[in-house]
Amino acid sequence: MFVAASIDAASKPALYAELARQAESLLHGERDRIANAANFAALVWHALPDINWCGFYFFDGAELVVGPFQGKPACVRIALGKGVCGIAATTREAQLVWDVNAFDGHIACDSASRSEVVVPLLQGEHLLGVWDVDSPQVGRFDEEDRAGMQQLCTVFMHSLR
Ligand code: SME
Repeated sequence: MFVAASIDAASKPALYAELARQAESLLHGERDRIANAANFAALVWHALPDINWCGFYFFDGAELVVGPFQGKPACVRIALGKGVCGIAATTREAQLVWDVNAFDGHIACDSASRSEVVVPLLQGEHLLGVWDVDSPQVGRFDEEDRAGMQQLCTVFMHSLR
């Protein structure tokens, strides 16, 4: 049903723009959060090279609880302010971590993870959760990835309206 975005010779902005188009098409007509989160995670997992985990943590009113993801089984609950995810949730700003070993308080769900990007998911003032992508390579993500992930998350958030 879907053709993965071509990553060959594509610039990162072009890759994320294509992925955003695919995500819009994939999520169109469905508003169920879990369904859309599951398909969104699967789309990104198959489109991006050199990642070992991607998925959602949703805020349950007290802490972050793991949602649909791809990759190895993950930590279930993350307190606000803890780890990269918890900091993205409390600061409400996307976190780009070049080397997780240099990030004080990083939570190693998978010891293979070396770099990470986390985007907070906001509905106005309300924190829905975070979108987390990990890589086994140091420095896998740069500012273009952060911007691209935010673009993708905007598509996901719009699908829930
Ligand atoms: N590394 C994250 C925890 C979540 S896992 O990577 C899936 C963190 O420090 O927030």
